[in-house]
Amino acid sequence: MQQCWLTELKMAARAAAPYPIGSPFISPQPGLSCQSKRVALKLNPHNPPLRGFSALKAASGITREPGNSFFGKDSFAALMGASAVPTTRKQNRVSQYRFNPRASHYKVTILGAAGGIGEPLSLLIKMSPLVSEVRLYDIANVKGITADLSHCNTPAQVRGFNGTSQLADSLRGADLVVVPAGVPRKPGMTRDDLFSVNASIVKGLIEAVAENCPQAFIHIISNPLNSTVPIAAEVMKQKGVYDPKKLFGVTTLDVVRSNTFVAQRKNLRLIDVDVPVVGGHSGSTILPLLSKTRPLVTFTDKEVEELTAKIQNAGTEVVEAKEGEGSATLSMAYAAARFVESSLRAKDGDADVYECAYVQSNLTELAFFASRVKLGRKGVEALISSDLQGLTEYEAEILEALKPQLKANIEKGIAFVQKQPAAA
Ligand SMILES: NC(=O)c1ccc[n+]([C@@H]2O[C@H](COP(=O)([O-])OP(=O)(O)OC[C@H]3O[C@@H](n4cnc5c(N)ncnc54)[C@H](O)[C@@H]3O)[C@@H](O)[C@H]2O)c1
Repeated sequence: MQQCWLTELKMAARAAAPYPIGSPFISPQPGLSCQSKRVALKLNPHNPPLRGFSALKAASGITREPGNSFFGKDSFAALMGASAVPTTRKQNRVSQYRFNPRASHYKVTILGAAGGIGEPLSLLIKMSPLVSEVRLYDIANVKGITADLSHCNTPAQVRGFNGTSQLADSLRGADLVVVPAGVPRKPGMTRDDLFSVNASIVKGLIEAVAENCPQAFIHIISNPLNSTVPIAAEVMKQKGVYDPKKLFGVTTLDVVRSNTFVAQRKNLRLIDVDVPVVGGHSGSTILPLLSKTRPLVTFTDKEVEELTAKIQNAGTEVVEAKEGEGSATLSMAYAAARFVESSLRAKDGDADVYECAYVQSNLTELAFFASRVKLGRKGVEALISSDLQGLTEYEAEILEALKPQLKANIEKGIAFVQKQPAAA
């Protein structure tokens, strides 16, 4: 009987933590090898601060591999109501970060929460032990999703906000705002074709962010990202509250795809692979730096060309496979949840968080550029320039070739805001 009870609890624990989502903690510094932090977790039955996960806490005595967590190693510790003590390999930096589950006090607002991306993203954020409140805002269909999601017994409270009259309330006091609002691509469309609709949507929403939670981290997902991030920056500037360290274009999906495709091609463990992706977020402006892949892998010229094309066209592959029903939603929600989790971990004091993102940048002559960034309590702490050194001839050529298009996309976004009168 006792055995049967324990088995059920172990199964519950496994069911709640089946997939890795977190960054594999790769050092951006050249010369350092893969930095997967190894964490041996001993569950502590006397320290169950997250009562929403009571089935998990009862599984005390199981030593678990943190790579199994939805949200990565440190969050896994919080889910399990235990303290994670990272032990590192000889050559790795020692992380001072100690995860404190009581720090689950971040309020996250999703603008466009009822959409193809917004809905699964809401679920993933509801599962984060770092989040105390998840706020769902949309112009339609929020009520049902709010009721549905609120029944999950994870700690975050769920609040729904429907329509523009409730937009300000959804934003006041938010620590992080994610913006997947807008229309997705249909077959035959480029991301730039979405500009006419999504530019206005993003502009309007960011005006509300500027007025109600200017200190929040802002994660823009809405395409065309190359232009919508400059739009958001201009709006924040007009309102006098622009902090470039806190505005991000979410390009995590390009990294997630690159890691997946390289791991498949080279028969590597997915969790070990990290490919920095730089440039922009549309077709040929996406530049995966395969030569900087960790762990070190060698590719033939043919492999590089095929993988680069596959990564650049991965979004279009999904759009075509969905035959008019939209673009990537599940993989995008997964990638966005990873970026939210990384940002909140950095906000919470983890001093070892790196992600690629499209941000204001001085790494090239372009005003906005995706690169690996170090995240900290106040947003971007550093742009990692080392990835752009020692590029292969092929990568250097693509980098130069993408610049005119990315520049035009950036200027289009800026001009869109500047030619309109500033909102009061
Ligand atoms: N950054 C990326 O890597 C990436 C990947 C995939 C898709 N996208 C983009 O994300 C966006 C959303 O995609 P989706 O598949 O979820 O689309 P969707 O149409 O399924 O959902 C969009 C949601 O936004 C809502 N919305 C529209 N106008 C709004 C407004 N003014 N305020 C609040 N909500 C509003 C809609 O009601 C809808 O619920 C698209 O622009 C798409 O191109 C980005």
